[in-house]
Parts: sequence; C-alpha cells; structure tokens
Amino acid sequence: MTSDSLRFLTGITTTGTPHLGNYVGAIRPAVRASRQAGVQSFYFLADYHALIKVGEPARIQRSTLEIAATWLAAGLDPDKVVFYRQSDIPEIPELTWFLTCLTGKGLLNRAHAYKAQVDKNLAAGSDADADVTAGLFMYPVLMAADILMFKAHKVPVGRDQIQHIEMARDMAASFNHLYGPQLVLPEAEIEDNVATLPGLDGRKMSKSYDNTIALFAPRELLRKQIAGLVTDSRAPGEPKSTEGSALFELYQAFATPDETEAMRQAYAQGIAWGEAKQQLFERIDREIAPMRAAYEEFMGHPQRIEDILQAGARKARALASPFMAQLRHSVGLRNLSAQAGAAAAAPVAKALPSVKQYREDGRFFFKLVDGQGRLLLQSKGFDNPREAARIVTRLNGGDASVLQAEAAHLVLPGADAAERLAQALQALRAQADAAS
Ligand code: TRP
Repeated sequence: MTSDSLRFLTGITTTGTPHLGNYVGAIRPAVRASRQAGVQSFYFLADYHALIKVGEPARIQRSTLEIAATWLAAGLDPDKVVFYRQSDIPEIPELTWFLTCLTGKGLLNRAHAYKAQVDKNLAAGSDADADVTAGLFMYPVLMAADILMFKAHKVPVGRDQIQHIEMARDMAASFNHLYGPQLVLPEAEIEDNVATLPGLDGRKMSKSYDNTIALFAPRELLRKQIAGLVTDSRAPGEPKSTEGSALFELYQAFATPDETEAMRQAYAQGIAWGEAKQQLFERIDREIAPMRAAYEEFMGHPQRIEDILQAGARKARALASPFMAQLRHSVGLRNLSAQAGAAAAAPVAKALPSVKQYREDGRFFFKLVDGQGRLLLQSKGFDNPREAARIVTRLNGGDASVLQAEAAHLVLPGADAAERLAQALQALRAQADAAS
C-alpha cells in the first residue's frame, strides 16, 4: 500500500439487513475493486448515518453485526483493506464540522433525500420541514467527511448517491480554496447497468419500499421471494419483453454476458415466467451459497468481528489523526505558543513596498522600494529631516498626489517603473486603510 495509489472508499448505512441491491450496487464491486493491484481500499460501517434513521439501539447493533459479517463473507480481506466502523473514528465528526462551516445551506436544500421529504410534506399540506431532523439535512456533509478524511479518489456507489459525491467535491474545493489544497476531490464509481437493482415490485430495490430480497436469506426463502417477483401477464409461449423487466434486470446483474444473451433469447421465444424465475433463483444462489455459509459462521462468532473492526480502526486512525492535525492547523485551530512563528510566516503572500530613510554627507534622503527591494522612487537631499519626514508620511499613506506636489524633491523612475510605482502606492494605501 503506497500513499499515492488509487484509493477506493465506500460505506454502508447500518440499518436493516443487507439485501441483493446492497450486494450488487456496493459490496460486490467494492470487493472486486479491493482485489485489483495498485488500489488501496477503505470500507466502513456508517453507523453515525444509521442514527439519522432509527431510534432503535438494539437494531443498530444487530445491523452493524450483520453488515460486517456480510462484507467479510463477500470476500473482503481485512488484512488487505482498511475495514472499520465510522463511530470508531472521532476525526470524522470533527471534519464534518469543518465542512459544515463552509457549506452553503442552499446547497443542502437541494439534496435529493431532504427535498423528497419536503415535497412529501408540502403535498400532504404539512409544514415543509415536518419530521426533518437537522441530521437528515446534514447527511451529505457527514458523508463528505467520510470520503474526504481518507483522501478517496473513487467512491463506488449506486446512482442515487452521485449527488452526494458531487457535494463532497464541492465541499473539498471550497475547503482547498480557503485553506490550501489538502483535500482530494472524489469521483463516483458506478458499475454500469447493474448499479441499481429493481426490487420485488419492479421499483428500485430499497428498504424504504419494503421490496428487497435478503442477501443471505435461507435458500428456500430466497426461492420464495423470487417467486413473488412482479411480472406482466404474458402466458407461456408468448414472447416477452426484456425492456423494463425486473426479472431480466436481476438476472443480468448476476449472469455473464453469454448467460444474459441466452435469457434474452428465451424471453423472445416465450419462456414461462415460472421457468424464468427458477433460472433466476438458481443463478443467484450459485453465487450466494458459498458466502451464505461464511456469513453464518461469522454471525455465530461476533467477537471475531469486533476484533477485526478494532484492528481496522487502528489502521484508519493512523491515517486520520495526523491528517486531522494538519487540517486543524490549516483552519487556525493551533497551539497558541506557535503564534509568533505563524505571524512571522503569514506575510509570505506578498512583501509590501516600503520607504527607507537614510543620511548621507549630512543630508537626509529617502527611497521607496518594492517588495523585492527594487528602487521605485528616490528623493533629493534635504537639509531639514522634518521636511523629508512630511513627504515620507504621505508616501506611507499611499498618497499618489505627492508625486506631483513634491516633484521638485523627487527623482521619478523611468517609464518602466511607473506602473510598479503606482501599484506600490496602492498597496501602501490599502495597508494604511486596513490599519486605521
Ligand atoms: N449514503 C450511503 C448509502 O446510503 C452510505 C454512505 C455513508 C457512504 N457514507 C458514505 C457511501 C461514504 C460511500 C461513501 O448508501
């Protein structure tokens, strides 16, 4: 694992029991990606996110266990990747606050999940924000912190999450603009044609539609669930359309291109729905069965999972805590004893022009030099230092009219320096204004 390899990161909210949609849309592509050479992968259980949705502590714990077991059973190798629980990483909520402070409320107003709730409320004649917690509203910021904390380049997610990744990019860009380039701008990684899976009723498979197919249901339950999949009323022998067929889409998500092509032909030749469902069941079970056994083994030994997660948290924090120290410094949360050094370092941006006074052969002189020490203006000699000081004061205030008024005492620079002289006077004026 080198620090400049491509980093993938994905999280899954620890509510409910993992379903086929989670597997196909997130877990499977992520596990595959984790096996590629030259990538560094981060997987985590988004249990802070889970707090937004449920008020049932026992369910969160149960679901965290089930989801951890699922990922491990699906082939995630905790020695090769960083596998951790979000709530073991205190740097994540801290970064959430930094991002909160630079995220426009208007940006969050446009988040799909929040807008959907508002639309629902308005349609029901309720207050726009009825049942909207600040947690739901802030969801995209917490998610951005998850991603940005570990400098992820690619985030494997379903299509419904693309907007969140784009928001994370916006936040990273704002942070970098304000505090210097430190956060990596992430990109969504969508596995095309299978990224969102239809559920039993044909709508997107989702806990909120109650149309999911459990990933590690016992074999017979899987068969029963698939038998309940919605189809049209075409009879056996009638050609069927793959277009908009949930069954076909599910099949395609598990099948090879050749198998998919064969199913497409079977549709055209009028395969009976019962037969198509049986083939779908067998195809899914072929992929799932070995994992199901591993899953059951993990579920019987929760301490193993706890140990794996603790080890993962140590790896994750070894990255997060030094990075957070850097970010804290960059936003100005600093050790106060370093104040003097910081103040001295601050004007790095641009050294200001300055007026230097000196004495030569008993007479008084001054000159104006720019930040790089180049001569912009030279005085003639004064017998009386107070006369020189009067002009110096006006120059320090950035008063350009002094050039005309005191022309007799000044040696104006060549034409090539005139522009720089005007800029220097402007800079001095801005500084004087800021100080007053
Ligand atoms: N919002 C994601 C989902 O509902 C879960 C999630 C939380 C996530 N934080 C993340 C996904 C960071 C990817 C990266 O599926």
